[in-house]
Amino acid sequence: MTDTPSANHFDVHAATWDADPVKQARALAVAEAMQTRVPLSPRMRALEYGCGTGLLSFALQAQLGNVALADSSDGMLAVLNEKIAANAITNMRATRLDLVTDALPDDRYDLIYTLMTLHHISDTDELLRSLYTLLASPGYLCVADLDAEDGSFHGPGFDGHNGFDRRALAAKAAAAGFRQVEFTTAFSMRKGDGAAQAEYPVFLMVAQK
Ligand SMILES: C[S@@+](CC[C@H](N)C(=O)[O-])C[C@H]1O[C@@H](n2cnc3c(N)ncnc32)[C@H](O)[C@@H]1O
Repeated sequence: MTDTPSANHFDVHAATWDADPVKQARALAVAEAMQTRVPLSPRMRALEYGCGTGLLSFALQAQLGNVALADSSDGMLAVLNEKIAANAITNMRATRLDLVTDALPDDRYDLIYTLMTLHHISDTDELLRSLYTLLASPGYLCVADLDAEDGSFHGPGFDGHNGFDRRALAAKAAAAGFRQVEFTTAFSMRKGDGAAQAEYPVFLMVAQK
């Protein structure tokens, strides 16, 4: 299975999402990178945007206060709710939210993070502005996503971003108001066979409000 992009793809594949060891390892690697770069605290109110089944938040929740997990896929949210209940987690709450179409919530957060979701949002500038508004000050934004690639990660028909150039994304974050924008490489995925095999690094951008 791949992170393919069609409208209901995420609903369809939610039930088997966690069976992919690459997705599990990716979330753990990004959690470790965040733990190194952000002073996580149980006093932090956190938002994961585009949470899917919550792999990243499950790795972080013990070090955070309340965690809101937002996604536009009802299928993903159903799996997530089952996992929260099965693990008797008390500080994680799933919520349906699409910042492209929905009004901005009134809640504010000390930490917002998102993994492999930004490339699905066409207007990156607008999303960064929305996330800036949702952050309290001081606050941290962590964005983990693909470095710029040639389109082979998703293949033909994908209408999102083919990853991101780090300098261009840093400029967009600065334009949205963020400061101290820093990048590190958190993970790398290998896809394809033979001569078509390629590495797809995943960066972690940490920015502050
Ligand atoms: C590639 S998946 C990543 C899921 C999870 N972060 C992970 O790493 O396993 C992208 C997620 O973003 C969600 N998503 C896509 N567009 C969205 C939008 N406009 N608003 C909220 N969530 C969105 C999808 O439903 C999906 O769960």
